[in-house]
Amino acid sequence: MLERTAAKHAAFFTPFLERGMRLLDCGCGPGTITTGLAKLVSPGQVFGIDLEPGQVRRAQDRARQKQSNASFEVAGIYALPFPDGHFDGVFAHALFEHLREPVRALREMKRVLRSSGLVGIRSPDWAGWVVHPMNAPLEEAFRLFKEIQIANGGNPLRWESFERPDFAIYRSRLRMRSSTIWRVLWNGWLIVSRA
Ligand SMILES: C[S@@+](CC[C@H](N)C(=O)[O-])C[C@H]1O[C@@H](n2cnc3c(N)ncnc32)[C@H](O)[C@@H]1O
Repeated sequence: MLERTAAKHAAFFTPFLERGMRLLDCGCGPGTITTGLAKLVSPGQVFGIDLEPGQVRRAQDRARQKQSNASFEVAGIYALPFPDGHFDGVFAHALFEHLREPVRALREMKRVLRSSGLVGIRSPDWAGWVVHPMNAPLEEAFRLFKEIQIANGGNPLRWESFERPDFAIYRSRLRMRSSTIWRVLWNGWLIVSRA
């Protein structure tokens, strides 16, 4: 996660950002993407929230070092500590596949979003994993990984069903990321909240 950047991992979202915007990054982890987003919207403020205090501390240290306009706090996606309509954009990277109630999370993101604000969500597509060369231990490792994610309350195979009357999916794009041994399709969703 420490190698993630806004340029690479939020590329589907950043073209829509403007200086002065106020953004929220949900499940921000160590804040590497968040601080990149903060640079793009400066002097606008960017807030990152995460359930894990250790991740939030890491993100706060990073923001201090970079004198960033990003700030971080411990909070859960289902109860965001912000008033209604507070943000111009709300973002989540590699979070939704871990959630038991993704639509509830999306509703909460919408609550803190201004009318016609933008939501950007990026998550791996578990049906799109290609591993080469495959072997039995690797296959078992991937199976267990999915099983653990589901046992922890995540829903990696079904969370994409966002077809709801209160949201319009504005653009979705599939991107391929690769490493030496595996490739995975990442989905990037841009969603405009209806008033
Ligand atoms: C895979 S990490 C992604 C971190 C960061 N977005 C990135 O891509 O570098 C998922 C993060 O979501 C956080 N998380 C999981 N469930 C959450 C929830 N219900 N509310 C807020 N954060 C949550 C985890 O603590 C973890 O830091």
